[in-house]
Parts: sequence; C-alpha cells; structure tokens
Amino acid sequence: MKSIKEIDIENKRVLIRADLNVPIDDEGNVTDPNRIKQFLPTLKEVLDRSGKAIVMSHLGRPDGKSDPRYSLKPVAKAMEELLGKPVKLAPDCIGQEVEALVNEMGNGDVILLENLRFHKGEKENDAEFSSMLAKLGDVYINDAFATAHRAHTSIVGVAKHFSEKGCGLLLEKEIKYCSETLENPARPFCVILGGAKVKTKLKALINISTKADKIIIGGAMANTFLASQGIQMGKSLVERDYFGEAIKLIADLARRECTLYLPVDVVVGPNISEKGVGRPVPVQEIPADCMALDIGPATSILYKEAIQTCETIIWNGPMGMFEHEDYAAGTTDMIETLAQCHGMTVIGGGDTDAAIHKMQLAHKFDYISTGGGAFLALLEGKPLPGIEALQ
Ligand code: 3PG
Repeated sequence: MKSIKEIDIENKRVLIRADLNVPIDDEGNVTDPNRIKQFLPTLKEVLDRSGKAIVMSHLGRPDGKSDPRYSLKPVAKAMEELLGKPVKLAPDCIGQEVEALVNEMGNGDVILLENLRFHKGEKENDAEFSSMLAKLGDVYINDAFATAHRAHTSIVGVAKHFSEKGCGLLLEKEIKYCSETLENPARPFCVILGGAKVKTKLKALINISTKADKIIIGGAMANTFLASQGIQMGKSLVERDYFGEAIKLIADLARRECTLYLPVDVVVGPNISEKGVGRPVPVQEIPADCMALDIGPATSILYKEAIQTCETIIWNGPMGMFEHEDYAAGTTDMIETLAQCHGMTVIGGGDTDAAIHKMQLAHKFDYISTGGGAFLALLEGKPLPGIEALQ
C-alpha cells in the first residue's frame, strides 16, 4: 500500500475519504472535533504540496436520503476554523454542480462534499455511484480508519477507478499502532475489554485469546462471565445465551498460557438512575435487588498489578457506567493506571477515548485510535475492506 507521501499530488484533484463523523449538538456545533483534528495533517499535506483537496465523509446514519440534520455544514465550519483557510461545502457529493465546483478549484483549495450517506449507493458499494464520485479526482486517498471496516462505495468501489491511490497520514498511523501492535506485541501483552455486552465483543475475545498473555474484563460483560461461574448477580445485566461461550472461553484460556482477570468486587446500585447509592461489595455478596454497575476498588488494585508488569496494553471499552458519578471510578482508575504504566498503551476509540479526553490525560497514552467499530474489527482479526482496497 502506498502512502500519500509517495504519490505525486501537485496540480492534481485529490479525492480524499476522511471520517469526519463527529458529534454535533442541537445548535449545530461540533462538540468533539478530535476526528477533524486528526485528519488535518493529511489535508495540509495536500495543500502544502499544491494539490486540490476534495474531501468526502459520512455523518451519522441518514438512511440514503438528504436530511439537514446530518448536513456536514457544522463540520465545514469547524474544519475551516481549525485549518485557518476557507473550506467550501458542496451542495451534494456527486452531480454536475459539484463537478463544476471542483473544476473551478485552484491548487491549495479545499472542498468538502456533502454527506455521502445522503445517497443509498454509498452503503451499497454501487458501481454507478462509485463512477460519479471517481469523476471528481485524479488521485484517491483514504484516510478514514474509523470507517475502514465498512465495504462502502467511497471506501471500496471508488478505489478501483484509480491507478494512483494510497493511504493518508492518519490511516498510516492507525495501521502502524493498531494493526502492527496486535500482530507483533512486546510481551507480556495485555488486552483489556469492557463495555456492556459479551455479544458484541465475543469474536474479539476469541481472537485475542490466541495472542494475549493476559485478558482483563470489565463493564457489564464481566457479569455474564461471573454468572456463568455460578455467581449470583442480582438484577445485573447478564446474557444467559452466552453462558456456554463464556464457560468455553474460560476453559480455553486455562489450557493456553493466557490469564483471565474478572472482577472480585463490584459497585452495586438499585438501578441506573438513582444518585449517591452506589457501594462496593465482593462479587459473592451482590444483593438480589441490586445491579453491578462498575468494577470495585479491590478489582481496580488487582487489575493495576496485572497491568504494571506488561510491555503492551490494548484497551477497548469502559469498566462501568462511567457517565454516572457513582459508577465512574473503575474507568477513571483504569485511565490513571494506564497513564502511569511503563508499557506501550494503545486505546480504541469511542467511549474509552471520550473518558480519557474528559480527564485530559490523552497525552499520557502512546496511541488513541479514532476507530471504534474499526478498532474492534481489528481485535476480531478481520481484514479491513478500506485497507484491502488500497493494496
Ligand atoms: C464510527 O463512528 O464508528 C464510524 O464513523 C463508522 O460509523 P458507522 O458505524 O455509522 O458506519
């Protein structure tokens, strides 16, 4: 796969797929511009080398039709402010009007195309839609790691139209830190998985169970593992359908030399809304009328000790309901542990990333991915269509 650094872009129309799918509030302001910031080095590379940047992205899931709630207008505004140069928002992502706008561009200009998902063809990897997008560029660059797990037109179909194509600087960095760390980790190698459901993380667990030296589990998914071992979990979220898988995985890990860490205590509450009622209990003493909503303090210490001796640590998914003050300590303790540990730390995007940014500790981590679903797909060992299309 070529890097943008190896591709001649001077005087060229550079069609770039970025992931600018950022949160936007009701007033139309971007509330977390991280993905835009992470894309800027690639954009600047094109502009500094006298190319014309035609940027395409999706925003949300507008279901194949134009919907002003999902317009990229707030993104164009935020991008313009961060870049310090005008960013023109095209009225659509394909069509004659857009082609005319692109043909009028000078070197160093930027156009952001309107949301790709306003067209059904985007998700369908449609041949006609890919030809129409391809008309807008001489060179194709993909910098959208966070969407690299989607075999959509702007990721896969469009790439086939270009002889000159490659990855942007962000995609290159994501591959280096995420894929290569997973392929060849310094050992001991620890993977921490949290979040609500075993269902969504099971494939990742099975794949990493063959690679990691230690697996640490937190979040509500730990409930299912504990319950599968006969522990009474009260009113906690438990996926009974996954008991068999959990039991099998525990047995497989015991056969391999991979240590599984499960909570020894949890913070419980009567429900998820009541405030000031969370309290830690050993997992053997979860009251019948309570739910486990965070890992407990003894578990945080146990996990810290396990992590401190590791050379590589990958983390995806919070340890509890960290949005709720009573149940945030497990996740904040984990962030502090990783911020202080000597091993290399790679963090998946999404909730974990949001919690780290909230604590303003992002600079303490070796790498924080922009990918949520894409990062999980890597943990599952799946090839990413966005990377394959460039190879
Ligand atoms: C993400 O936010 O994970 C990416 O932008 C992909 O979005 P999607 O899950 O709607 O495809």
